[in-house]
Amino acid sequence: MSGQGKVVCVTGASGYIASWLVKLLLQCGYTVKATVRDPRQISSQLQNFSFPTPLAIKTEHLLALEGAKERLHLFKANLLEEGSFDSVVDGCDGVFHTASPVVMIVDDPQAQLIDPALEGTMSVLGSCAKVPSVKRVVVTSSMASVAFNGKPLAPDVLVDESWFSDPVFCEKSKLWYMLSKTLAEEAAWKFAKENGIDMVFAVDWSPDGEKVAYGGRDRVLNLWMG
Ligand SMILES: NC(=O)c1ccc[n+]([C@@H]2O[C@H](COP(=O)([O-])OP(=O)(O)OC[C@H]3O[C@@H](n4cnc5c(N)ncnc54)[C@H](OP(=O)(O)O)[C@@H]3O)[C@@H](O)[C@H]2O)c1
Repeated sequence: MSGQGKVVCVTGASGYIASWLVKLLLQCGYTVKATVRDPRQISSQLQNFSFPTPLAIKTEHLLALEGAKERLHLFKANLLEEGSFDSVVDGCDGVFHTASPVVMIVDDPQAQLIDPALEGTMSVLGSCAKVPSVKRVVVTSSMASVAFNGKPLAPDVLVDESWFSDPVFCEKSKLWYMLSKTLAEEAAWKFAKENGIDMVFAVDWSPDGEKVAYGGRDRVLNLWMG
């Protein structure tokens, strides 16, 4: 599947799953507009240290990818800044929204998980709704927004697309990451429907990014191409 001449955006590009996705998209010929929280801060740190810093490592692997020099463009964007993604998604054929905090232990669930997941997803979708170029948005969902509803999970239980995690159950059980993904997904479906956005959620149980991008290579690209 050739992506030559097509431009896509990947949010949270320095993340684990997104990094594999960027690699796959570059290999397929796409031009990738990749968002990270602060690319400039990273390069200035590189200048100040003679050894790789943790921040340097966050984008170094992306810049070293085959095709990156020609077709990877890094942009600064933050989920909590309104309009942060506007200029990045402008001109893109498609958007892969992966940025979302993935942490299980937090002091302040609202600030650390729910706000960035929920407001961030709405911000990205809001940016997409403003530009006619975006034909499809692919969002990384999770079993976190599917399986946590209090129903018993047993070998004979089929978990399918009719399943959604229950926000009340998640909150009562203090499953904050699950709650953040569930609220973000609920709000995203509503917004996409109201604004005519072609959106799909990709659900994967496994955190194996390589498998997500390569084992399911055709599946990943089909999600985007439809
Ligand atoms: N890991 C899993 O088991 C799993 C399974 C299924 C689905 N997912 C979903 O897949 C996606 C990626 O997960 P991952 O495992 O690759 O996680 P990850 O490596 O932690 O990546 C998450 C990305 O989100 C970014 N991010 C977090 N808060 C942000 C903010 N306020 N503004 C901008 N960017 C922000 C992070 O940026 P920084 O690098 O700057 O922190 C990072 O690039 C998430 O939506 C997750 O829910 C994960």
